[in-house]
Amino acid sequence: MLPSNYRIRLVEPTDYEAIIDICRLVYPTERPYTAAELDDHRQVYPQGQFVAVRTDDDAVAGVHFTLRLRMADFHLDDSWDVLTADGSFLDHRPDGPTLYGADIMVHPAHQHHGLGHALTDQARFLVQAENLWRMVGASRLPGYGQHRDAMSIEAYVDAVIGGTLVDPVLSVHMKDGWSVVRPIHGYLQHDDDSAGWAEVIQWINPACPPPPEFDLRNLPSACVVKA
Ligand SMILES: CC(C)(COP(=O)(O)OP(=O)(O)OC[C@H]1O[C@@H](n2cnc3c(N)ncnc32)[C@H](O)[C@@H]1OP(=O)(O)O)[C@@H](O)C(=O)NCCC(=O)NCCS
Repeated sequence: MLPSNYRIRLVEPTDYEAIIDICRLVYPTERPYTAAELDDHRQVYPQGQFVAVRTDDDAVAGVHFTLRLRMADFHLDDSWDVLTADGSFLDHRPDGPTLYGADIMVHPAHQHHGLGHALTDQARFLVQAENLWRMVGASRLPGYGQHRDAMSIEAYVDAVIGGTLVDPVLSVHMKDGWSVVRPIHGYLQHDDDSAGWAEVIQWINPACPPPPEFDLRNLPSACVVKA
């Protein structure tokens, strides 16, 4: 699945500068990670910080950052800042049964080679190795901005799932085996392309699914969502 000229390993301090550069490229309106935050991620949960590198020169091509949470400590529509303790991951719970996919990004020059898929699989292997219930994330919806006046967010997500519309991020996540839970507003601070929306997504570990009372749909909302 992973092209032979790439490999996936854990993040090292020498990767920080390249990771910050990728962050600036793919999220031009968001504040990029700081080296101190990337250090915090490695301190609290080193085995959840993945980097895809080119084999010949070890150049960083993409990353997937995760932490373990108890979703019952949160609202379903909490923002990225809340779920990640402002990007530090210092809210990581070693006993948390959910792997939270805080970020996945691939350098534009390395996109469409299967790295996003391989990085997602790596997190799935971690869920299985640590006997966790599930993997949860929130997918940006950068295709929605251009449809916002024509259709509701629910209709847009339905169209993407049904294949009549393609979203640059949610369509990739769907192919990677995630399933949708619910659209939420205000997940990222400056995601104008997504018109402020994101879709909560999950992958349930078939070997260790959550008890029914911990279904994400039972989590309360912090605010009333208006489409
Ligand atoms: C979302 C993102 C991580 C996907 O990364 P990626 O490495 O391009 O993902 P993949 O290569 O696995 O899949 C993307 C596409 O490449 C295709 N692909 C996979 N392997 C391929 C190969 N060997 N050759 C050609 N195409 C390939 C996939 O089929 C998919 O295409 P499709 O959507 O038309 O079906 C990337 O677009 C990104 O960094 N976006 C900006 C940051 C972001 O929004 N992250 C998500 C936050 S929720």
